[in-house]
Amino acid sequence: MEEPNYKDVFKKDKILVEKFKLNDNYKLKYSGKKYFLKTYGCQMNEHDSENIKALLEDMGFESVDDYEKADLVLLNTCSVRENAHNKAFGMLGRFKHLKEEKKDLIVGLCGCMAQEEGVIKEIREKYKFVNFVFGTHNVYELPEIIDKAVMEGKQEIDVKSFGDRIIEDIPVRRENSFKAYVNIIYGCDKFCTYCIVPYTRGKEHSRRREDILKEIKALKEDGYKEVTLLGQNVNAYGHDLYNDYTFGNLLEDVAKEGIPRIRFTTSHPWNFTDKMIDVIAKYENIMPAIHLPLQSGSDKILKSMGRRYTKESYLKLFDEMKEKIPNCHISTDIIVGFPGETEEDFNETLDVVKHCKYDNAYTFIYSPRENTPAAKFKDQVDESVKEQRLQRLNKLVNKYFLENNKKLEGKVLEVLVEGKNEKHGYFGYSKEMKLVNFTGKEIEIGSLVNVEITKAKTWSLDGNAK
Ligand code: SAH
Ligand code: SF4
Ligand code: F3S
Repeated sequence: MEEPNYKDVFKKDKILVEKFKLNDNYKLKYSGKKYFLKTYGCQMNEHDSENIKALLEDMGFESVDDYEKADLVLLNTCSVRENAHNKAFGMLGRFKHLKEEKKDLIVGLCGCMAQEEGVIKEIREKYKFVNFVFGTHNVYELPEIIDKAVMEGKQEIDVKSFGDRIIEDIPVRRENSFKAYVNIIYGCDKFCTYCIVPYTRGKEHSRRREDILKEIKALKEDGYKEVTLLGQNVNAYGHDLYNDYTFGNLLEDVAKEGIPRIRFTTSHPWNFTDKMIDVIAKYENIMPAIHLPLQSGSDKILKSMGRRYTKESYLKLFDEMKEKIPNCHISTDIIVGFPGETEEDFNETLDVVKHCKYDNAYTFIYSPRENTPAAKFKDQVDESVKEQRLQRLNKLVNKYFLENNKKLEGKVLEVLVEGKNEKHGYFGYSKEMKLVNFTGKEIEIGSLVNVEITKAKTWSLDGNAK
């Protein structure tokens, strides 16, 4: 029984690297039982869920889509904004009802919320029906934790405050057979003042390059078409392990392995290096779709967010990327209503949007988070002002999505086919990360096809396979 403690989050001992091995006692022990897993949050969580699924299945559990049919229900949670929190607690409420009828139901919670002191307190005091909790640093302990909760019949909370090891070779059930996530760096040391992630994911630690490249090679051999390199800030890759091997070097080594499409997320504009730009520009298999979070266009707000760049330096980087990277498409994240944001500050954000004309933008209302400095700032913005700014911002970004998409009408884009839907025929994403709905005959899911774009919409393109 171990609970999270914010004091210890950055107490980083030497990081160990170990290989996963499932204890024989748990292998298929739960055969015949069914599990339901729901994932909230970012790609990092989605990828963790791919490990969680594999671990549960190695214990014998089988997946079901309907939680009412499950013997074990598990939420892999996200803390980044209040509404992610509320959704998870809402779901726990439903599980509570279900458990009233189904006494043997095993209920679990993991992911970023498990790392929050406040959440653990609430679970201990008000959600006593929750059987087990584990955190982001000990996914690999899932078999022991679940088994202990079941065998001892007590609430089992097991959350490490900080990561002290990287476990390689945790089994993985990937969502599909042509697109894969690969972790390259865990944690985040940036401490943007609004953000809870450094507390839920801990300090930055990179995976060894040989482990990453081994995984990439295996994916190539298995016929994967696209790989996404994951980290809260991929630019920081390597600084804790190597003197002269950075993300630019890793990206180049990955590109040389020859997977048809490579992308990465997320890059902080602060340490986006020239080497990275050169490598992206040089290798055709690195997708020209880059996520470059802006957060705000006001220097005053950027400073109080702790973002380490200015409007000017952001725009300089943006323009350089557009100039040097052929066919470069850039998306972003923006927060409105950060404490102290005036109408003038907000207009600076709109100004940057007008310059950058983003291809995609994830826009958020600032949400105060437990234990973050900005939550304690005095000049919080009114909810109604935040709402109104979000609407104005969305209207503007949407205008550019459509404008940019229109430029693609008549062009031929290479699309990785993801699936079929009744309304549109096939769908998939282009190298530019545009969602394309298209017609075609007997096209294999997971293949790369050329699609002629016939019509642009705000969030997608229509086309016909050539
Ligand atoms: N590591 C990534 C961000 C992960 S969180 C990066 O730095 O780009 C994804 C996005 O959520 C952030 O870019 C930010 O726009 C938003 N976000 C984070 N904390 C938030 C908060 N407290 N309120 C509103 N949005 C937030
Ligand atoms: Fe959060 Fe900033 Fe780290 Fe991104 S870089 S995870 S926004 S602290
Ligand atoms: Fe959410 Fe944790 Fe990702 S807080 S955004 S799931 S790192």
